[in-house]
Amino acid sequence: MPLPPEFTPEVICERSPREERLYTNFLEDDRMGESLFASNPWLEPPSYDKPLEWNTGKYWETTVARKHDYWRSIPLPQPTKDIRQMRHDLRSWGYCLIEDGMSEEQCFVLNERLVEQAAAEHRAGVALGSPFGQYVNTLVNKGDCFARCIEQDPEVVQAGPLIEQLANETLGDGWICYSFFAVSADPDCYPQRIHMDQGGLMPWLPPEAPVLLNTLYVLQDVDEHNGGTLIIPGSHRAMAMAGTGGTIGVLPPTINLEARAGTIMVFDGRLLHATGVNRTAKQRFVAIMAFTKPWLRQQENWVLSVRPEVLASASPKLLHRMGFQAVFNGGTVEGFGLNYVKGYVGDPMAVIKQFRLAIDAGEYKRVGVLGPNTSAAEMAVDFTLRSVMSAAKTAMGDAWMK
Ligand SMILES: [Fe+2]
Repeated sequence: MPLPPEFTPEVICERSPREERLYTNFLEDDRMGESLFASNPWLEPPSYDKPLEWNTGKYWETTVARKHDYWRSIPLPQPTKDIRQMRHDLRSWGYCLIEDGMSEEQCFVLNERLVEQAAAEHRAGVALGSPFGQYVNTLVNKGDCFARCIEQDPEVVQAGPLIEQLANETLGDGWICYSFFAVSADPDCYPQRIHMDQGGLMPWLPPEAPVLLNTLYVLQDVDEHNGGTLIIPGSHRAMAMAGTGGTIGVLPPTINLEARAGTIMVFDGRLLHATGVNRTAKQRFVAIMAFTKPWLRQQENWVLSVRPEVLASASPKLLHRMGFQAVFNGGTVEGFGLNYVKGYVGDPMAVIKQFRLAIDAGEYKRVGVLGPNTSAAEMAVDFTLRSVMSAAKTAMGDAWMK
């Protein structure tokens, strides 16, 4: 049967000139990116198919704050254990440094496990590279110490409770983990392009607060020599002031992060930063764990990738942080999680783990086409949803559907 002509691709196309489209101009508006580079041409990324250029004043040619002509007399964040100072630093500069966020022993354990894993992933042919170094992804699968970092367990990361408080204040209770991976700066590679971690939300840029908060675990001392993370202090404010649809003017210069192993940098999702250039002969790693609102799509899809062994022993808190806890506006499975919206840790009406276990066992039975001719035998199929709901009802008792 022919389509009504109004529904054919030709007519739809003819009736959709750019100036009449709903929000296309807004969605494709890159005035912010264009103005960033027009006002600050030194922030243009290098060409990855040519040798890296030096002595051109680009963003990767810098040093640590205390040696930097522009920054040395400005009181940038220093490592501290005082949460009140951290709030001030996050508001003013878009980052703070947690002194001894990991104890010496905790840092040693995490670093040893990571370095071993990274080398073995090379040997196994599963290392993921980049123009600046090596990623070691999905750390939750690569050591119990990493899973416990996601839980902010103070036995593994002693500043965990403080980090949770900062995340609660920034994102609201119920935030989840966006990803947890490590990344290296390899000798004489390129710098990463300058970016903000909540760039996925563009062109929306809410000025009031970030939608993502990041933590960077300094596992080995970092400085201007080994590619300490490049940061533009205070750039989160420039981004916030520009806001959705705004433009960026001239920014101050980058610095290399200078921090001792054991420090944890907490930073605003709007802060401009990049991996620096490692000019030593030794690969150096940092680990990165970001947090976000519970409805935002996570960077790592742990619901697919977490190992069954890790899933089997995961605490309610770890499940929640990995996105195994549905909330009304995110993560439901066949609607499970829709009708009980709090999504608190361990909430039995929203834990979706059982669906993943059923998939792993090859036993997931989804509700499909049902109708007046569906047989009694087909109706009696052991739908996974039915058993999950039944278990939730039992767990909820009198609170069911209230
Ligand atoms: Fe980043």
